[in-house]
Amino acid sequence: AAGQRQKQATLSEVLEKAGEAYRKQLRQSPAAIAYLKDRGLSGEIAREFGIGYAPPGWRTLAGVFPDYDDPLLAESGLVIAGEADENNEGKRYDRFRDRVMFPIRNVKGECIGFGGRVLGDEKPKYLNSPETPVFSKGRELYGLYEARAALRERGYALVTEGYMDVVALAQLGFPNAVATLGTACTTDHVQKLFRFTESVVFSFDGDAAGRRAARKALDGALPYATDVRSVKFLFLPADHDPDSFIREFGADAFARFVNEATPLSRFMVEVAREGCDLGSAEGRAHMASNARPLWSALPEGALKRQLLTEIAELVQLNAQELGELWLPPGAARP
Ligand code: UTP
Ligand code: MN
Ligand code: MN
Ligand code: MN
Ligand code: MN
Repeated sequence: AAGQRQKQATLSEVLEKAGEAYRKQLRQSPAAIAYLKDRGLSGEIAREFGIGYAPPGWRTLAGVFPDYDDPLLAESGLVIAGEADENNEGKRYDRFRDRVMFPIRNVKGECIGFGGRVLGDEKPKYLNSPETPVFSKGRELYGLYEARAALRERGYALVTEGYMDVVALAQLGFPNAVATLGTACTTDHVQKLFRFTESVVFSFDGDAAGRRAARKALDGALPYATDVRSVKFLFLPADHDPDSFIREFGADAFARFVNEATPLSRFMVEVAREGCDLGSAEGRAHMASNARPLWSALPEGALKRQLLTEIAELVQLNAQELGELWLPPGAARP
């Protein structure tokens, strides 16, 4: 265990050193600087998030680490070790080339990975560090370390989809933003967030992917939606994400969307109701069936009791009947 911790500390050191090199490269790369300026980033916010640039070369990091063949470099995800050839020498090369680099930190502030964006329209748009002993995409949130003080001050967290969303929101007056790393928001993410705040506003892109992401976040959040917490869902206009929206319409317009975000209870009922014709008994029964697993995932409390009543009204049963249907006699009450 001590050896494992030592290894993790060393991996973070390697990543930190690479991050410093990427920052130095950015200062010498007019094209990357122009890209960030073009997207509206100030130098100050780029420094705050430690943004850097990985040049196009295949072995830039060989100039940073004296031993480029050190297995730690491959283990950190910075170097890709290809298949060994007939001389038993695997071709090694940098994973991140010609990309704007976003360092990802854990809550202690240690660098645990990177997200790298192409300057143009090539695919994939973002390349993320692979899973390593220090980095797990399904658990980490981009910007959580940078946002930690603001989460206390503002009293809530804004959860977005992207790196640029976090940076743009921080620059334009919402330093309490974090992002999932190209994955759905998991229960692990939600649990981690609630260590820092009792209130979360999920903000999704106004596209089909954003809608699906909201649905997944609802599943992740339901088990944690206790009566002392607040969980809301913000839906931006079609074709906008928080970055594009706040840059086009400004902080006040974004604040209005935050204030008018949909509470979890309303979103849950909307999801259950979707596609159901409440004018027919079959449609109402279908809604009840959709609502049951969502409602069951809620922790016991006043919110859960109220939602039983609310859903019962919509499906034209009384709360006792629906309760009997969902919690048959003899079943342990949660
Ligand atoms: P988006 O497609 O919404 O990108 O993906 P974005 O963040 O708005 O990117 P910009 O504004 O064009 O720079 C949302 C997030 O999904 C992950 C990244 O974390 C991204 O921020 N993603 C996206 C990937 O990991 N790889 C990709 O190729 C694309
Ligand atoms: Mn999107
Ligand atoms: Mn974007
Ligand atoms: Mn986006
Ligand atoms: Mn259905």
